[in-house]
Amino acid sequence: MSGAPRDGVVVLISGRGSNLQAIIDAVRAGQVPADIRAVISSEPGTPGLARARTAGIPSHVVNFRDFTTREEFDRALMQQIDGYQPRLVVLAGFMRILGKNFIDHYAGRLLNIHPSLLPEFPGLNTHARALRNGAKYHGASVHFVTHEVDGGPVIIQAVIPVLPDDSPETLAEGVLNQEHRIYPLAIQWFLEGRLSIEDGRVLLDGQPRPEQGLFQRESTPGDIPAGPI
Ligand code: GAR
Repeated sequence: MSGAPRDGVVVLISGRGSNLQAIIDAVRAGQVPADIRAVISSEPGTPGLARARTAGIPSHVVNFRDFTTREEFDRALMQQIDGYQPRLVVLAGFMRILGKNFIDHYAGRLLNIHPSLLPEFPGLNTHARALRNGAKYHGASVHFVTHEVDGGPVIIQAVIPVLPDDSPETLAEGVLNQEHRIYPLAIQWFLEGRLSIEDGRVLLDGQPRPEQGLFQRESTPGDIPAGPI
C-alpha cells in the first residue's frame, strides 16, 4: 500500500456489527482515512467478530464475565486498545457502560452512536419508547463520550419520520440505515481534524454544525430517494 500512514482506529462492539461493517466499507471506499487496527467485542462469538475476520482485521474478545469488577474489565479493555495506539476509539453497538478512568483516558477521542435523537431517549429500547411517546420524528446521534451516559456533545444526527404503521422493528431498521450513513461521516470529520468542542457544542470547521435535515425512509414506496428533504 502506498501513501502516508493512516490514523489508527479501534472499534468496540458487542453484537451484530452492522455499524462496524459500514465503517469498514467506508474505509475501503476511501471515504474514511483510517486504518482499523482492531475490533474488540465484549461478547464472544458475535457476528461483528466474524465481520472483522472476513475483513482481515485483528479481533479480540474482552468478556466482561471474566472480571469481578467493572474497573478490572475497563483496565483489560484499555490495555488491549492501547496496544494498537489508536488516535480514535469508536463504540459501535458496544453495550457495556464504561467507567470514569476509561472515559478520562480517551477523552476527546471516544465516539458513540446512539439510536435516538439525543437528548431524547438515552438508554435502552429507544424505538419502542419513541413509539409509545407518539414521537413524529426519530433518528440517531453520533456523539463524543463523556461521563453522562448517552450524553456527550453531539457531532451529527439523522432525523427520519415515524410512519403510522411503524413497529419498533421497522423503526429500528429505518434508523439503522441512517446510522450507517452518519457514523462513517462523523469518523471522517474527526480524522480530518475538522471537529472541535466549544462550550460543550461540537463545531465543524469552526462553525456550528449544519442542520442535518429530515431523511426519507428508504422503505417508503414510490417516494423520492433517501436524502435530505
Ligand atoms: C445500533 O442501533 C446502535 O445505535 C445501538 O446498538 C445497535 C448496534 O447495531 N447502540 C446503542 O444502543 C448504544 N447505546 P450494530 O451492532 O449492528 O452496529
